[in-house]
Order: sequence, then C-alpha cells, then structure tokens
Amino acid sequence: MKEALEKIRQSAINALNEAEDSKILEEIRVKYLGKKGEITAILKQMGKLSAEERPKMGQLANKVRAEIEESLSNAQTKIKAKMREQSLKNERLDVTLPGKKVKQGQLHPLNIVMSEIEEVFMGMGFDIVEGPEVETDHYCFEALNMPKDHPARDTQDTFYIDENTVLRTQTSSVQIRTMEKTKPPIRIISPGRVYRSDTADATHTPIFHQIEGLVIDKGVTMSDLVGTLDMLMKRLYGEDCKIRLRPHHFPYTEPSAEVDIMCFNCGGKGCSMCKQEGFVELLGAGMVHPKVLEGCGIDPEVYSGFAFGLGLERLTMGRFNINDLRLLYDNDLRFLKQF
Ligand code: DAH
Repeated sequence: MKEALEKIRQSAINALNEAEDSKILEEIRVKYLGKKGEITAILKQMGKLSAEERPKMGQLANKVRAEIEESLSNAQTKIKAKMREQSLKNERLDVTLPGKKVKQGQLHPLNIVMSEIEEVFMGMGFDIVEGPEVETDHYCFEALNMPKDHPARDTQDTFYIDENTVLRTQTSSVQIRTMEKTKPPIRIISPGRVYRSDTADATHTPIFHQIEGLVIDKGVTMSDLVGTLDMLMKRLYGEDCKIRLRPHHFPYTEPSAEVDIMCFNCGGKGCSMCKQEGFVELLGAGMVHPKVLEGCGIDPEVYSGFAFGLGLERLTMGRFNINDLRLLYDNDLRFLKQF
C-alpha cells in the first residue's frame, strides 16, 4: 500500500508539472483527489490493514494528499501567470500606429446663410426670437388681418391639425406674438421652418424656411425698411448688389412691396435664371398695417414700423448658384460637401 501511495504521488506530481492549462489541472485534481479518485480508493482499502498499520497508512495517505494539493496550487498559480502574460501580449497596443481619421461634418448651406443673416442683424441691434411651428389660426392668419374668408389665405394652403390649429405657413405669426408681449421699441428677426401644402419641384418644397423681420418705434418710415434691406443684401452679396421694390399687396402691411435683388447670375443683364428680368424676387415687406398694430395693443398714432419676410432657400440658392431647391433636402454628401 505504501508503494501504491508513492506511485500515486509521483505520477500526480509529474502530471501536474506537465499540465499546460487549467482544464487539464482540473482533470488531474479529479483523478487523484476527487471522491472517486485514486487516494480515496486507497483509503477505502484501509480496513484490510492491521490496527497497528492503519494509523501509519492514514498519516501517509494524508501527507501524499497534502503534497498533491500543494503541487496543484503551485501549478494553478503558474498557469494563471502564463495566461495573463499571453493575454497582455495579445492585447498590446502599438501607440506609434497612425490614428483613424474622424470625418468632420460641416454646416448645411442653409445654416451657413442663416448664420450670416443673423450676424448682420445682430450687428444692427436686432434680437433673434423663435415661435412655434404648430400655430393657431389666430396668430398665423386672423391677427394678421386675414379673417377666415380672406382670399389671401388661398395662396398659403396649409396642413390643418384641427380647425384652429395649423402648421404655420409664414413666420409672420411671430410678429404678432412679439408685439403682444413686448412694448416698442421692437427690433427682431425670427428665423424658422414654415409649411405649405405644395408639391415639391425645383422652386417649391412643402417645408421651407423664412426669416421674419420686425421693427416698431416712433417715426419709423419706408426708407428705414429700404436702408435695412439694402444693407443686408450688400453684406451678403457684395457692395455692387442692388435691390428693387415693386408695389404689392399683403393684408398685414400698408403700403406693401415685393423686393427683388439684382440677378446673382447675370448681374442685371438678363439670363435664363432671372427669366431675362435682371432681377429675382426675394421677399415680401411693408409698413405694418395700423389694424395689426392696434390688435396687438400698440397705438398706430404714436408708433409705426416695418416688417419683412425673407425666403431662406431662395437666398441660399442665389448665394451658391444652386438651381434646384430639392438638392438642399436630398442629404447627398457629394452635394453638401461643396460648401
Ligand atoms: N409672409 C409673407 C409670405 O410668406 C412674407 C411677408 C410679406 C412678410 C410682408 C412680412 C411682410 O412680414 O410685411 O409670403
């Protein structure tokens, strides 16, 4: 029995020395130290021994078990260290490798022109205010002197949420919201999205952007309007740029005008882009109607003011020579990267 124990010890320790991973270690543990392992098998035979021999053998068996356990624990430590070394090797970072370039985005052409316009107006002391895109009939039409049956509503067919709630067709709604809340002097612009029930083509999309302007103070005249717009266009398109006003009708201004800008493409000579006119229509404007002022609690005998509504898409198309409005919304990077 003594020899048998010695053999077990030797072969267990040899096996442990050669083991290369923890799975093999576990197999060895079960084989020698497990409940059905070799040492247990020996202990089971102790009954056959004499009373004298039994404690000696028991002691020896425990010693062999302890030795194997110790070797096992040493082998486990060794294998763990080896595995750690290996994984460190595998995960090594080469900090000298060139990094991956992160693609940098850029401003959308509409945002570029929008920021330029905001900057010009901020330089003239205007505040920038925003209004809701889901608007009440009151702010979008009624308070702008366009009652329910007014024919001017037809040119701005919109998306109705319910009878009194619409997606705003124009940023002019913000004029009313501002005049109701603020006492003159008022000097604001209000950029934002507007909606009209239009089919998309080269010059229309159901969603587009306007920039509304409003100035109310004592003694404001039409020449202030012309001077402000002239300054804006010269800043955007250069000192040679000229504007032209044509009489027009808007229910919320009196007098009203449509404002054209000298064609960006031909410089006023006439070309296909301006339909041989030499000028391109850019915005609507006028002196705020006394009825609108009154409706907002501003005395038209004391105060006067001008307002305008610019189409951002049109300005952007002129600025960058873009011939189809839909390009601005296609999200095609080949197009967008050019600006
Ligand atoms: N709201 C007009 C439109 O959408 C543009 C406009 C015209 C705005 C005259 C104004 C204005 O503030 O006074 O076509």
